[in-house]
Amino acid sequence: MNIVALVGSLRTESYNLKLAKFIQERYKDKFQLNIADIERLPHYNQDDELNPPEAVVSFKRQIAAADGVLIITPEYNWSVPGVLKNALDWLSRVDKVLINKPVMTAGVSGGMMGTIRAQLHLRQILQSPGLSANVLPPAGNEVLINFASQKFDESGQLIDTATIDLLDQVIEQFVQWIHTHRER
Ligand code: FNR
Repeated sequence: MNIVALVGSLRTESYNLKLAKFIQERYKDKFQLNIADIERLPHYNQDDELNPPEAVVSFKRQIAAADGVLIITPEYNWSVPGVLKNALDWLSRVDKVLINKPVMTAGVSGGMMGTIRAQLHLRQILQSPGLSANVLPPAGNEVLINFASQKFDESGQLIDTATIDLLDQVIEQFVQWIHTHRER
């Protein structure tokens, strides 16, 4: 199984990137997780969408070939970071490769709210006609990691056992979600 991760933070020491790498390693027997390089995507421009730059072409190809997409993002000013929205805007046009694609979302924040406002916005964005992703339903599946500095150790490893237990359950739900989607 091939899953592509979109990480909404470009920071080298990003907690969200650390979560993506933790998932990549812990569940490597279930799926291969490739982290997309959304940093190199140019700003979305409708003038270019029919003949987009190579970075966009290869990004769309990567998403089209994926069995599922995992979006892991911080919250910026109560919403999703611009770099993530930009990537989604490219995906929403022309060949619309996210339509019906199984998607799971997660987020890490330094504060108490664990990216909840960004996650709610993200779910709304993913429902728009051009995206229409097949998002894992939220009940029991919300991975909202707050107080990040207490949950990752110095080396960037996720060490909070309750969070890891939750992740084990939600990732399993996502894998099942992808299988169910395939059988349809
Ligand atoms: C933030 N942060 C933040 N946190 C939050 O809970 N709600 C918010 O609206 C915001 N807004 C915000 C805007 C900007 C521009 C920055 C840089 C930060 C704090 C944010 O959650 C924290 O920096 C995370 O650690 C960022 O994620 P990464 O980079 O560690 O993955």
